[in-house]
Amino acid sequence: MFSHERIIIRRGPESGLPIVVAVHSTALGQALGGCRLAVYRDWRDGLADALRLSAAMTDKCALAGLPNGGGKTVVALDAPLDDSRKQAALHDVGTVIEELGGIYATGPDVGTGPDDMVTIGSRTRHVFCRPVAAGGSGDSSPGTATGTVAALRAVCADRFGSPEPAGRSFAVLGLGRVGGRVARLLAEAGAKLLVADVDRSKHALADELGATWVTPDEGLSAAVDVVVPAALGGVLTPDSVAALRCSAVAGPANNQLDSPATADLLQARGILWAPDYVVSAGGVVSATAVELHHETPEQVTARLDGIGNTLTNVFAAARRDNITPSAAAAAEAARRLSKAG
Ligand code: PHE
Repeated sequence: MFSHERIIIRRGPESGLPIVVAVHSTALGQALGGCRLAVYRDWRDGLADALRLSAAMTDKCALAGLPNGGGKTVVALDAPLDDSRKQAALHDVGTVIEELGGIYATGPDVGTGPDDMVTIGSRTRHVFCRPVAAGGSGDSSPGTATGTVAALRAVCADRFGSPEPAGRSFAVLGLGRVGGRVARLLAEAGAKLLVADVDRSKHALADELGATWVTPDEGLSAAVDVVVPAALGGVLTPDSVAALRCSAVAGPANNQLDSPATADLLQARGILWAPDYVVSAGGVVSATAVELHHETPEQVTARLDGIGNTLTNVFAAARRDNITPSAAAAAEAARRLSKAG
């Protein structure tokens, strides 16, 4: 079913690259979603990613209780960019966002960070997460990581009767800006950790945290309490779900399921799956709390803790209605959107 409000696909005049801005929904307010710079086999795969990711942002904002909708920007690369072409691509992104007149604002995502938001911001003011010195709320990954840990506590409470990560085992897949922080917070809380990253230089962090370094495939099928996907999407497929040996899967990676039906396979195996768009809301929650609502650090922390309560409610609704957490979260998002529409 086609549900996007507006999709812009343009050959960037400065970069020559395909610039995709997908505005999925503004029913609850301005659409938000990060700007992803990534290599794709074909630019159409980047378009497909933008369509999926922007729709997930609508559900993410709705379930987080934000007065915002969902969107996403994808610059589909055929090879990694050098600095000057990256600047050009970001200028092209800023120009498209400015033309949209405020129905959509962007932020960081895979391949972009706070400094890149300054570059986009030279063309439009509809951008979040510029560095604090440049008037923004800065890196959103600490907020995403804190929200993820709140979600993991809710998962532990549901599965094991106590929210405490201490003594529990986790396999963190991906040690990037978010995954690295999640691993550190879990280590500080006394968890047993397996960690993986495609980038072998992250091995040093594993040693520092006293974590066991494994390959991404080993981590995914490890016999741990919780698998925490914290890198790119699509890790949960019929094959990988069949090989899981964990009790729960919960992490901040966007779009973990290869298809919605994979949620049923997880349920059939008795594995609890926390909908990724609930777990990963901390970035957009903290950025908007600071930049739109001018909240204090205490208020922001309370909002991030609230992600755990949201997830607890999703699990309860799923049990009550005898459906998957995925279906329960989608139903709640749909309810909130239809109330607004
Ligand atoms: N990458 C963030 C996400 O997936 C997007 C974002 C963060 C947008 C902060 C705006 C502000 O949720």
